[in-house]
Amino acid sequence: MMRHRTLLAMLPALFLFVLVLPPQTKGGDKKDDEKKYNLIYVPTEEKVIEKMFDMAKVKKGDVVFDLGCGDGRIIAMAAKKFGTRGVGVDLNPERIRECMDTIKKYGVESHVDKGLVEYRLGDALRVPDLNQASVIMLYMLPEFMDMLEPIAKKCLKPGSRVVSHDYRWKGKDWEPEQTIHFEGPTRTHTLYLWTVKESK
Ligand SMILES: C[S@@+](CC[C@H](N)C(=O)[O-])C[C@H]1O[C@@H](n2cnc3c(N)ncnc32)[C@H](O)[C@@H]1O
Repeated sequence: MMRHRTLLAMLPALFLFVLVLPPQTKGGDKKDDEKKYNLIYVPTEEKVIEKMFDMAKVKKGDVVFDLGCGDGRIIAMAAKKFGTRGVGVDLNPERIRECMDTIKKYGVESHVDKGLVEYRLGDALRVPDLNQASVIMLYMLPEFMDMLEPIAKKCLKPGSRVVSHDYRWKGKDWEPEQTIHFEGPTRTHTLYLWTVKESK
């Protein structure tokens, strides 16, 4: 309770945030958790995000989730460009605070007011409404991708598209349907696309 109060006090606009449960530590294995919940932050450049939108064929009516959203730029850009509903989730409160600036930077305040854009502080592996997503954007390390794969297979609806930056799922039964090497402003990025089939 105290912990939640402290966290809430840190957040300047309470209505924007939904607290979801923090990662569980089984048997207090801190090293394992550090590996699983690696909070390294590298934002995806806008040009690369545009390419990810193209690959997923993002359009009005889509519901875009960014799991590990960093400063929230992907969700804000999608809302601005396509009018999509979007949810960004990050485990680091600092990143969620930065989402406040992102809302202003991309001019999506009205989307936030209408509940169309939402940023959540919490574990992206424990998102109760992930089945609402029609598009998932990822730029997450291999350990996270490995843990997300069975969750995605279980709960994503057919037709949903997943685009991942640099890291891919390894399951032989779910090969990416498209892999591209995209020349960004600073380096070459590998981008993967999956579409969820009827029988995953
Ligand atoms: C490489 S950054 C990507 C940021 C953003 N998606 C982008 O492409 O610009 C990865 C982000 O995932 C967050 N993260 C790592 N593990 C997480 C988890 N289990 N749940 C939520 N966020 C997580 C980190 O805090 C970091 O902000």
